[in-house]
Amino acid sequence: MCGIIGYTGFRKASDVILRGLKTLEYRGYDSAGIAVSGPKGLEIRKGAGKVAEVSESLLFSSLEGNAGIGHTRWATHGKVCNENAHPHANCSKSIALVHNGVIENYLSIKEALSAEGHKFESETDSEVVAHLIEENMKNMPIERAFQESIKALKGSYAIVMAARGENRIFAARKNSPLIAGIGKGEFILASDITAALPYTKKIVPVDEERIVIASEKEIAFYDYSGKEANPNYMEVDWTAETAEKGGFPHFMLKEIYEQKLALPESLAADVKDANALIEKAKNIHIIACGTSYHAGLVLSILLEKQTGKFAKAFIASEYPFIANPEKGTLALAISQSGETADTMQAARFAKAAGAKLLALTNVVGSSLSRLADSTVYLNAGPEVSVAATKTFSSQLALAYRLAYGSEPWAKEIPRAVEKALAQEQSVKSLSSRFKDANDVFFIGRGLSYPIAMEGALKLKELSYIHAEAYPGGELKHGPLSLIQPGTLVVALAPSDESLPKMHGNIKEVKARGAFVIALTDNPEITKEVDFALHVEKSRPELYPFAMLPLLQMLAYYASTSRGIDPDRPRNLAKSVTVE
Ligand code: G6P
Repeated sequence: MCGIIGYTGFRKASDVILRGLKTLEYRGYDSAGIAVSGPKGLEIRKGAGKVAEVSESLLFSSLEGNAGIGHTRWATHGKVCNENAHPHANCSKSIALVHNGVIENYLSIKEALSAEGHKFESETDSEVVAHLIEENMKNMPIERAFQESIKALKGSYAIVMAARGENRIFAARKNSPLIAGIGKGEFILASDITAALPYTKKIVPVDEERIVIASEKEIAFYDYSGKEANPNYMEVDWTAETAEKGGFPHFMLKEIYEQKLALPESLAADVKDANALIEKAKNIHIIACGTSYHAGLVLSILLEKQTGKFAKAFIASEYPFIANPEKGTLALAISQSGETADTMQAARFAKAAGAKLLALTNVVGSSLSRLADSTVYLNAGPEVSVAATKTFSSQLALAYRLAYGSEPWAKEIPRAVEKALAQEQSVKSLSSRFKDANDVFFIGRGLSYPIAMEGALKLKELSYIHAEAYPGGELKHGPLSLIQPGTLVVALAPSDESLPKMHGNIKEVKARGAFVIALTDNPEITKEVDFALHVEKSRPELYPFAMLPLLQMLAYYASTSRGIDPDRPRNLAKSVTVE
């Protein structure tokens, strides 16, 4: 949903910005651009394409200067083209800015500025901000013009601006993520921590409605009235290496493997406060999107079984339309990034109705964690690939902690994942089956159903193959008519209480000619199906962890076999900060 970065300090700004943009590219990758304030004035280079392509053709690295900004875009207003790429400048090209978010009142501002003679080059909402600042600069110095203009904006934004003849960079934040990296003689403003990690571990998550002004010497934070505000400094323990590929062809595969290391960290999380909130709750509303929603479904099943309380998972964007939170409700928001706009607005809706808010997120200082009454961190380390993998299994691990406490068998979770990872070659050998597939059905029952949903989501988002998940029992109520000779069916059939019924469902689809791939530890099913991926025999609770990596790798290899870059699926972004 657009990645932004600004740098000022003693280094060559274009190097820092380019490196940062590559790290932030998971947020969007349809266009990229840079602006540097240096000896040749303010130079802007931008175009449609991925960061590496645009930077190579427009020679980002040749820009000299110590202050600058950069952007990697995920289009919201205006098509993908060179003009709509950021940075955007004013008429005289003396200032340039990058923006993440949506300016809701941009049309009225644009009309007023057009009447004053401003000429616009793009269709974006972002460009009007540069012109508004220029208009205000007629009557006031740049810092005040920036502040006054920001105050006039409605919507969501993280903005960073550079200016001709200035080593200072200017930033503002409302409802879109922005952090400040605090170095020695240098500062980085960026959409997320990973862009600052190569230079500093001292971070300020910029508060809502703040203006930031940084020079190579100092950084200051102000509220919208211009009063200096105290920032909240924190040290992060992530390393720059954990945000790099480390020898794997893609971040996704690296992150699939990192699950065995991340899970012990997640399982060690402190859940005391969270348990107290669950204990006090009358009912539990879990709110989340995408992959996090699937973790929410697992959590809802476990919490309802273990606590006897009503616990339901809601798709966050639907929540305000269909739910009735009240005083006594615990809203439990799950979000890897802690920045997803749909989840944020659902969380605000629940809070406004008097609910308590418990957050499960991976990002310290994220918007969600700051809104929440209490937060449990996933401790999974940075996840770069657009498709969530290790953060999903960490969310599951936390779901288990919340529902079961510290059961001794939980220690076996990382091993279950490791056993599954050992089957990479077997999963890879299946990818030729998916190369030309049009439809794939995933079936499972009980806890395996949300895992089947996650398998289907991973496959569709990464390989562009149509995939659906159904509870095994639902097949006969409609979807069975879609099964024809050769249709691919992935059946999750571990030896838990669902096994006898799943066995029946496998027979149903086999009888209609489906090519069945079973994830199972049952010898009979192994013999009957067309391809079996072995699941380690274990206690029932561990099966989701034993099956998940197989589905993740299946989607990964289906994607690469079709020539797709799994780290950058079309039309998607990792952190979706618009509703
Ligand atoms: C986007 C990503 C998904 C992710 C969802 C929720 O759609 O592409 O992979 O599951 O957002 O993200 P969150 O950060 O809230 O978990």
